[in-house]
Amino acid sequence: KKSEAWSARFSEPVSDLVKRYTASVFFDNRMASVDIQGSLAHAEMLSAQNIITTQDYADIQRGMAQIQGEIESGKFEWLLDLEDVHLNIEKRLTELVGDAGKRLHTGRSRNDQVATDIRLYMRNAIDNIIELLRGLRAALIDLAEKNAETILPGFTHMQVAQPITFGHHILAYVEMFGRDTERMQDCRKRVNRLPLGAAALAGTTFPIDRERVARTLGFDEVCYNSLDAVSDRDFAIEFCAAAALIMTHISRMSEELVIWMSPRVGFIDIADRFCTGSSIMPQKKNPDVPELARGKTGRVNGHLIALLTLMKGQPLAYNKDNQEDKEPLFDTVDTIIDTLRIFADMATGISVKPDAMRAAALQGYATATDLADYLVKKGLPFRDAHEAVAHAVKTCVEKGCDLSDMSLAELQTYSALIGEDIFEVLTLEGSVAARDHIGGTAPNQVRAAIIRARKNLAF
Ligand code: ARG
Repeated sequence: KKSEAWSARFSEPVSDLVKRYTASVFFDNRMASVDIQGSLAHAEMLSAQNIITTQDYADIQRGMAQIQGEIESGKFEWLLDLEDVHLNIEKRLTELVGDAGKRLHTGRSRNDQVATDIRLYMRNAIDNIIELLRGLRAALIDLAEKNAETILPGFTHMQVAQPITFGHHILAYVEMFGRDTERMQDCRKRVNRLPLGAAALAGTTFPIDRERVARTLGFDEVCYNSLDAVSDRDFAIEFCAAAALIMTHISRMSEELVIWMSPRVGFIDIADRFCTGSSIMPQKKNPDVPELARGKTGRVNGHLIALLTLMKGQPLAYNKDNQEDKEPLFDTVDTIIDTLRIFADMATGISVKPDAMRAAALQGYATATDLADYLVKKGLPFRDAHEAVAHAVKTCVEKGCDLSDMSLAELQTYSALIGEDIFEVLTLEGSVAARDHIGGTAPNQVRAAIIRARKNLAF
C-alpha cells in the first residue's frame, strides 16, 4: 500500500530523489503549532456548520492535543515520505483518532492551509520583531541620554563637517528603527487576513463560515478572492522588504561602530563579550558582532530578491514554486530576531570615549560654518561670508593651526566685522548649543528628542 495522500491515482511510486526534492517537512515543520491552530479553527467551524459531528470535532481536539505534546517533547516522528508538515500531522491524527482525522480536510486544501499557516507564523514573528525593535530603541535612547552633551565631529563625505552631540547621532538610528517599526506594523495589517476557505483555488461546495474561522484565529478579515488567497505571497515579500531595511539600518550602524572602535579613531569601546580575538595576533580585539551583522544584511537583502523572483513568473493560482517561499522567509525571521536581540544588548556594552571624540572635533575646522554664520548675522551676505572664512581656513591650513588659534587682529584681516565675541562662537560647545531648533544637535534639543522618542516607544 502506497503512503502518499494522493497516491491512488498513480501507478508507480515517486523515486527517492524526487521525494527528497519535493519534500518540505524538514523546514516547514516549524509551522507545526500554527498548523494545528488553523486545523482546530477549521474543525470547530465544520462542526458548528454540521459538516462534521461534534464528536468528530472532540476527537480532532483530543488528537491534536496529543500531537502538540509529542512535537513539544521531541517524540513526534517527522517522515520524509509524508512530504510536508500538513500531511505529517494529518496522518498522525488519523492514527490517533481514526475517521474524524480523515474528515478534517473536508472543504480545505493544502493550498489554503499553507497560506494560512504562513500568515499565522508571520504574525507571531512580526509581533516579536516589533517588541525587539522597541527594546533596541529603548537601549539606544538610554545611550543617547548619557551623551546629550558629548561632542564629536559630524562627517559628510567622511570629512569633518560640523561638531555634533553623540546623543544626537545615536537618536538618528532611533528614528530609523522607529520607521522600521511602523513598516512592520503596516505589513501586519496585510498579513492578518484569512485564506482558509479558498480551498485549492475556487472555494468549496460545503456551507463553510469563513468569517467564523477568521474570528477564531484573530484575523482582521478574510481574503476576498480565492485565487488570490492561495497564490500570492506579496505579504511575505513586503515583510522581507521591511526586514531588508531593518538590516540596512543595522548595517550602517555596524559600519560606524567598527570605524569608531578602530584604534585610529578610538571613539568607543565595545564590551569584550561582543568581540573576539585573533589566533595569531595577541593584541587583537575585533568587533565581530557588528561585522557579522553587516555581513548578514547581504543574505536578508538576497532573500527579498529571491521571493520577488519566485513570484514574478507564476500564473494564477497556486504553483509548487511557492513551497520555496519558506526557507528565505524563515531565515529572514531568524536573522532579524537574533540581530535585534544582540544589538539591544550590545548597545548597553558601548563605552564612549569623550576625550577622543572632542580631540577629533577640534581638528578639521569644524566650526568654520559658525564663523560664516556669525558674519551673516553682522550683515554680510552668506556667499561673501563663506569666501572670507575660506580664506581664513586656507591660512590656518598653511600654518597648521585652528581658527580659534588666530588673534583677533589676524581674524579681522578677513573681515572687519569680526569682534571679541567670536571666540565663544568658535568653541565646540557654542557651536552645538547654537543649533537649537527641532531636529538640531543642541543638547537642549537632544533632551527634548529623548522625551519624544520615549513617548513613541508606547506605540
Ligand atoms: N508544502 C506545500 C507548500 O509549501 C503545501 C501546499 C502543497 N499543495 C500542493 N497542491 N502540492 O506550498
